[in-house]
Amino acid sequence: MSSVTQPQKILVRRYSGSARINHWIVAISFIVLLLSGLAMFHPSLFIVGETLFGSGWMARWIHPWAGLALTVAFLALFLRFLPANLPHLDDFRWFARMKHVLSGHDEYLPELGKYNAGQKFVFWSQMILTCTLFVTGVALWDSYLPFFERLTGYHPTIEQMRWAAVIHATSAVLTVVVWIVHAYAALWVRGTIPAMVGGTVTGGWAWRHHRRWLRREVKKPASVQAAS
Ligand code: HEM
Repeated sequence: MSSVTQPQKILVRRYSGSARINHWIVAISFIVLLLSGLAMFHPSLFIVGETLFGSGWMARWIHPWAGLALTVAFLALFLRFLPANLPHLDDFRWFARMKHVLSGHDEYLPELGKYNAGQKFVFWSQMILTCTLFVTGVALWDSYLPFFERLTGYHPTIEQMRWAAVIHATSAVLTVVVWIVHAYAALWVRGTIPAMVGGTVTGGWAWRHHRRWLRREVKKPASVQAAS
């Protein structure tokens, strides 16, 4: 008879249910924005609006509302994840050892809190880009400009609206680049997607990638673990 017993898998809670719902609302509204935005980006892409949204008009209508949804949801996500994304001295060490990050030699990397410097970069750049997209998007939302004018007493000039269009399109391209990096990193580091889907990671994953965070989590009483 074998004396080997199957060890129990240790799971560590990384995200609460509300944090995951919050994140996936951001992700879904982002995809709607990306597709409806592409539909307006260049005449060769008008077909995207007709195929996915029924008409170019519909894509144009849906785009600013999805932008509003993303901004509100992202602000909530931002406030929730802010404490874990504040800069730490080890973030600079982590960036300086990028070759070990890319070759998977974690033994040469500093112990990390809940997020690594790359994730913090995504967090802060999405914050800046979301705010820029929101402000320039409102300036271009012509059907609601009289409403915003009544609200703020301000109406952008034609010159300002032209600049808003250029800055909006440039920020959109940048935000898509940051999003590709984010989604690729989530797929690349095995075990990360289950964190945002089921809310937990394995003890091994937490020990390997976010050891400082794990050390703090195990000291907390179960009721306050991964409250965000
Ligand atoms: C469909 C595309 C997306 C996928 C597959 C995805 C996947 C993930 C995963 C797996 C995590 C957990 C990372 C961890 O705990 O280590 C995460 C965290 C996060 N995601 Fe996403 N995500 C997507 C879209 C977005 C978008 C569009 C935004 C913002 C505009 C976003 C913002 C965040 C933020 C702020 C975090 C917390 C980590 C950090 O501060 O960098 N995600 N995402």
